[in-house]
Amino acid sequence: MNLGTFHDEMLIFGGNYSNLQATEALQAVAAARGIPAQRIICTGDVVAYCAQPEETVCAMRDWGVSVVMGNCEESLGFDSADCGCGFEEGTACAVLSDSWFTYSQRRVSAASKAWMRALPRTLRFQLGHKRFQVVHGGVHAINRFLFASQPDADFRTELNAADADVVLGGHAGMPFARTVAQQTWLNSGVIGMPANEGRADTWYMLLRPDSAGLNVQWERLAYDAQAASAAMHKRGLANAYAEALLSGLWPSMDVLPAAEQAQRGKAIQLAPLTLA
Ligand SMILES: [Fe+2]
Repeated sequence: MNLGTFHDEMLIFGGNYSNLQATEALQAVAAARGIPAQRIICTGDVVAYCAQPEETVCAMRDWGVSVVMGNCEESLGFDSADCGCGFEEGTACAVLSDSWFTYSQRRVSAASKAWMRALPRTLRFQLGHKRFQVVHGGVHAINRFLFASQPDADFRTELNAADADVVLGGHAGMPFARTVAQQTWLNSGVIGMPANEGRADTWYMLLRPDSAGLNVQWERLAYDAQAASAAMHKRGLANAYAEALLSGLWPSMDVLPAAEQAQRGKAIQLAPLTLA
């Protein structure tokens, strides 16, 4: 699906993860900045760990922003047996995923599952003179993890598969940028779960064309994490993710490369970037 050409500031985010409070906080940010839904894109995983999957889907549909299908939407929408992250059986990630997936299967309406099934797997648009492609995991594999520390070759393979100057990816849960041979991979981070920094706020990204090129800026989203965690406790999800919303630390690092594991508890530093 091609969204066309834009000339003004765009807001990019991913990973609501059923966190209604974070979703509403981002809606307030967009309203305050005067960014309409037409210039807002979500990289997928609207539903996952937190307490309010159906409410979060409804909030997103009412908002009217563009959404790329995440592995969580694919799995729930098509009634798969699990979340599709590919976690190894018995790992902490797998056990925790069982918990939210079973919970969400019971609470997401047939209409919301139909919405999930109809989501595009990729989006394209142009901003300034840059051509963008939006995906969830890898360009072709919806559940491929790409983290900042991975070798150039991993990004080169993915970027070569894209027909774009810039790829916007999600899934990894952490914000970063990588440029390899004139193409750039950007991850906005996610709004629904902290980035393992030891602080509760989360991340989104702004794209702005200016005279120097394309300005990329990551922003922290402060929201009512206490309410999001309390909602999980109230609905029987008093698990490690309910704690992670407050501590800012992931309950499991099974999916993380060693470099990202070593960053646990440290603030992510992301200076604004200009792509000429
Ligand atoms: Fe994902």
